Amino acid sequence: MCGAREIPPGEMRRVWLDGTPVALANVGGEFLAIGDTCSHAEASLSEGILEDGVVECPRHGATFDVRTGENRSLPATRPVPSFRVSVRDGGVWLEGGSE
Ligand code: FES
Repeated sequence: MCGAREIPPGEMRRVWLDGTPVALANVGGEFLAIGDTCSHAEASLSEGILEDGVVECPRHGATFDVRTGENRSLPATRPVPSFRVSVRDGGVWLEGGSE
């Protein structure tokens, strides 16, 4: 769980779900979560640039849809998992992977 106010719109943060790193994003007030580890060479996607619901990997620039985890550009050729998210009592809760 993470406080909803801890992640302003347009920002991401790495959180953990059962030992798995997850990139939690605030896209215009909607919270979305995908696997934090880039499918290309394991950079942390939460350290990348988030724009219009797409994150650009900080290492080689592959892009991923933060709603689905789908890879949008090379050099990544595989998606990352996506996670269901709920917001309640001022907190953001991860509810498991969907890959
Ligand atoms: S590690 Fe992410 S694009 Fe290479």
